[in-house]
Amino acid sequence: MPSSPSSYMVSRLPSEYQVLQLIHVIGATIWVGGHLLLLGGYLRRALREGSASPIIEFERMFARIGLPSFALTMVSGALMGLIRYPPSLWLDLDGPTGRLGLKVLTVTALLPIMVYAEKRVLPALKSGGNPKMLARFSVLATVATILSLILVVLGWAVRFGI
Ligand code: HEM
Repeated sequence: MPSSPSSYMVSRLPSEYQVLQLIHVIGATIWVGGHLLLLGGYLRRALREGSASPIIEFERMFARIGLPSFALTMVSGALMGLIRYPPSLWLDLDGPTGRLGLKVLTVTALLPIMVYAEKRVLPALKSGGNPKMLARFSVLATVATILSLILVVLGWAVRFGI
């Protein structure tokens, strides 16, 4: 029990870890939520209409909030991971500490997909050229969403030491 009102207030302040966790969860929510919206709404519409316009519309909106959220999720995740366990334990892929190593591997698979979509596929869709690019974008967006959901499940496993 707190001994005085001031010590009560101090004990109510969130720890650094708790603030990082809040940033992580908000960033992850925006990132994963945006991808589900893309898959379930904009991409479906684009495929139905055979037009890249809905995807370009989504990208214009999401780039401003999605990429900063992703960056915040990465930084907060890495800091929390370092607070929890030394990186050498992240490599123990069979044990619960290795879930962090699996998260890093999953992000490593996600990054080239993001870069390829951003640098190659989206510009091609914007210039209205190659119709194959719409199918390619669908595959990339689906894989990126699955990897992002895997990151959520791994995060949950880290949280509970599973
Ligand atoms: C887009 C990428 C990521 C997503 C969507 C994501 C998502 C999540 C989610 C949903 C949680 C569960 C939080 C909770 O149960 O309270 C979590 C936890 C966690 N994640 Fe991530 N994460 C991502 C990237 C990373 C990276 C790169 C690392 C660093 C290696 C990381 C480290 C952690 C840690 C240490 C926790 C446990 C936090 C706790 O104590 O609850 N995450 N993540």
